[in-house]
Amino acid sequence: MMYYSRLAFSVLLLRFAAAFLCHSSSSTRIGLQPRFMFVDYGLGEYSQEVIDSSKSNKWGIPASETLPPLSSTPKAQLENGGKVTLVGSGPGDPELLTLKAVKLLQDPDALVIVDRLVSPEILNLIQGEIKIARKLPGCAELAQEEIYWWAHQGLAAGKHVIRLKIGDPFVFGRGGEEVLKFRKYGVESKVVPGVSSAFSAPLLANIPVTHRGAANQVVMCTGYGREGTSPDLIQYHEEQTIVFLMAVGRLRELCDRLVTLAGYPKDTPVGIVEKAGCPSQRTVVGTMETIADMAENHKVQAPSTIIVGKVVNVLLNTDDEGEAIQGLIQSASQSDPILSSD
Ligand SMILES: C[S@@+](CC[C@H](N)C(=O)[O-])C[C@H]1O[C@@H](n2cnc3c(N)ncnc32)[C@H](O)[C@@H]1O
Repeated sequence: MMYYSRLAFSVLLLRFAAAFLCHSSSSTRIGLQPRFMFVDYGLGEYSQEVIDSSKSNKWGIPASETLPPLSSTPKAQLENGGKVTLVGSGPGDPELLTLKAVKLLQDPDALVIVDRLVSPEILNLIQGEIKIARKLPGCAELAQEEIYWWAHQGLAAGKHVIRLKIGDPFVFGRGGEEVLKFRKYGVESKVVPGVSSAFSAPLLANIPVTHRGAANQVVMCTGYGREGTSPDLIQYHEEQTIVFLMAVGRLRELCDRLVTLAGYPKDTPVGIVEKAGCPSQRTVVGTMETIADMAENHKVQAPSTIIVGKVVNVLLNTDDEGEAIQGLIQSASQSDPILSSD
């Protein structure tokens, strides 16, 4: 009884926190140095008209589908010079950016609309205006609407709008949705690929996603489907690697379901790579049976990539007896020595 009332209280507290975060003002700064300011364009004549004629949401932002097209047919560049480029920022290490991305980020006239998880080291390279998406828990849809609103205002002002997205823009990042939306606004986006965490996070933790005799196929999967649903499970295949993105928040449930519903042996190796490519990168290695407790003990958080399959142990199998390493492996990068494990 006591347990349930505590649980109910915690749920209430979480709801309150999410509601508070979703209501906080758009000038909130998210852990950044003072140089990063949110710029208020003000409501120009066109914006006021748009706001008056559209259904605005609780952040006071007009619904993205009511924003008017800025050209009758999609163009790479509007008459006023406005254009959009979606750019992949890779997993977090600025040295993993493409040269094209660095060049674009150094344009002092660009408006750069940044995903929340882009690393501060990469933000430091930006020379133009920066706006940071407020995709806090419970606010994803509102924040996406705000991104469209910022982009629309930037385009109407003739700016080069750069949508800086983590990893690769077209891997679980709504990149395709954004291209379609900008097309409705009369702009055909350019897209610059980035290094996806789906492949770089395992690599940076010394986990090859394919390896002869261990895995001849790789499946990339999200932990959350639309509106928080669980996507269909991939059935067990001995020589297969599954890379899960956006799944660390429901790791225990995911492992239970893979074992009970998809035929995974309880000793299937599982690795989690947290903040790959960042100075605080950590890896936790266990099995289907142990990994959820380990992740809880080590307080593993997003952004993390989960790797399931025999490949997890291929290169981490380095102790004297040839036993697979289990537990926390702290390694600042792939080239650094393993500092500790338990
Ligand atoms: C919305 S998805 C975007 C994926 C991104 N487009 C990509 O290609 O990497 C966000 C998820 O990517 C993974 N991710 C992104 N950056 C990461 C990092 N530095 N380390 C580990 N996983 C990361 C996490 O699973 C996170 O929940």
